[in-house]
Amino acid sequence: MVNDGYANVRCVDNCAVVVEQMSAKYGALGGLTFGRDDARTLESVADGSVDCVVDKGTLDAVLCGEDSREGSAQLLAAALRVLKKKGVLLIVSHSKARAALIPPGAWKVATHDVAAPALDDAKPATTHYVYACTKIA
Ligand SMILES: C[S@@+](CC[C@H](N)C(=O)[O-])C[C@H]1O[C@@H](n2cnc3c(N)ncnc32)[C@H](O)[C@@H]1O
Repeated sequence: MVNDGYANVRCVDNCAVVVEQMSAKYGALGGLTFGRDDARTLESVADGSVDCVVDKGTLDAVLCGEDSREGSAQLLAAALRVLKKKGVLLIVSHSKARAALIPPGAWKVATHDVAAPALDDAKPATTHYVYACTKIA
């Protein structure tokens, strides 16, 4: 994103090792800050302060954990809280069923299928799903 001109990109994960490794790998790019935070609360991010939230695999991970339904609702509520009006939450997921989790009153959702190349020749190419969720109010 930074290479495409986006500024003030904050990168969070709830795993300290991930934060440390990503910071070591990408910190020199500039324009990025790294920190440990829970996507279900986003305590390090102020209300109505960001234009876009990008979730790549985190909602999927939360849905694999304990209290997954509650966790997914919390993650979506946290994204809604930190976004400016008309801000966008981009969810990249393995599942084509995520739209059902997104409360319709708060978001306008467009779903896009994205071809995901095979990781090696032995495995077929697959599809990932991107949900572009615009904050309505
Ligand atoms: C499938 S990986 C995706 C990692 C990265 N976004 C990517 O695309 O390569 C899921 C990540 O979500 C993180 N994670 C799981 N639950 C989380 C939570 N409640 N808050 C923040 N990060 C979480 C995991 O530590 C893991 O790094």
